[in-house]
Amino acid sequence: MRSLITQGVKLLATGSAVPDLCITNQIISNIVDTSDEWIFDRTGIRERRIVSKGQSIIDLAVKAANKALIKAHLEPLDLDLIILATSTPNDLFGSASQLQLRLGALQAAAFDITAACSGFIIASVTAAQFIQNGTYSNVLVVGADVLSQWTNWSDRRTCILFGDGAGAAIFQATSVVNNNFLAFQLNTDGKQYNQLNISYKNTQQKQKVDFSDIGSFDSISMNGREVYKFAVSKIPQSIQFCLDSVHISIEKVDWLLLHQANIRILNAVAKRLMIPYAKVISNLSKYGNTSAASIPLALDEAIEEAKVSCGDLIVMSGFGAGLTWGTLILKWQD
Ligand code: UT7
Repeated sequence: MRSLITQGVKLLATGSAVPDLCITNQIISNIVDTSDEWIFDRTGIRERRIVSKGQSIIDLAVKAANKALIKAHLEPLDLDLIILATSTPNDLFGSASQLQLRLGALQAAAFDITAACSGFIIASVTAAQFIQNGTYSNVLVVGADVLSQWTNWSDRRTCILFGDGAGAAIFQATSVVNNNFLAFQLNTDGKQYNQLNISYKNTQQKQKVDFSDIGSFDSISMNGREVYKFAVSKIPQSIQFCLDSVHISIEKVDWLLLHQANIRILNAVAKRLMIPYAKVISNLSKYGNTSAASIPLALDEAIEEAKVSCGDLIVMSGFGAGLTWGTLILKWQD
């Protein structure tokens, strides 16, 4: 796979937002048969944020995007494209138009990408293609999900894991020599689509006609062990492939930023790649698995805390439903 690059890409700024409502492990242990100890030992999660009734991903996405715009010193009208990575839209036809409207970014084309926990990586790679081929200069990518709205709160195998949030990143065109978007790889294994899904279901409601269903969706269903095994085996390969493709050695990696699914997955991937744990970015204990939001949310926090500094090499990988996975290697503001 080769692509023609007419412009470079840089990550200009990030932003993030989480809901106010905090659900601790203790609260969950009053709902299902579990404990703070079990959840923390098996996942690294202590608490998660959940949207209140009436809130949607758009509320979170707008907040995250506005913070990124302010930091980037851009006006909404400067945006050429908005990509909203979400699997929990508030409109099945897509929610990016609502984000465009609420931001006042009326010059920007806007569309959704549905790829669950890989969504932010896939959307960022898509943004980079539009910039690198010379089409657009300023692209906003937002990863936002509210999986709490699709959680079965009686299923202790899944309800402990997920939280809601949004993370935004603004990518901008730069010269080819200053390109900071170094490498990527995207993968899908459709054979495993049913290891983690929110499947369509017929509501059985009577229609005037009998040739059509009234649709709705089930709640999250996951084979945790299989998804765990998949992540730990595929992600190191994907990262190694990307690093090799640009002749960068593991020692040169400053930060490993994986989709925040489970602390044991983060540890296992870092160990396989021989990346010291001090280089692993994690905020899992505070937010749980926020799906498409998890990588940009953690990145934004790491930048705000001045952990990540200019010129740092960040390896980001997302993985999840599909099953999909993807890696991108980025230099932060050289
Ligand atoms: O974002 C998408 C990516 N998703 C993931 O990455 C999820 C990956 N998978 C995981 O993180 C882990 O598989 C889980 C955290 C979901 C589960 O951890 P596990 O170590 O794989 O546990 P398990 O499913 O093998 O279950 C072990 C035991 C079972 O009991 P038995 O059969 O051994 O008697 C479960 O019934 O733990 C039991 N269990 C629980 N016990 C207390 C399952 N969930 C709970 C719970 N509290 N919440």
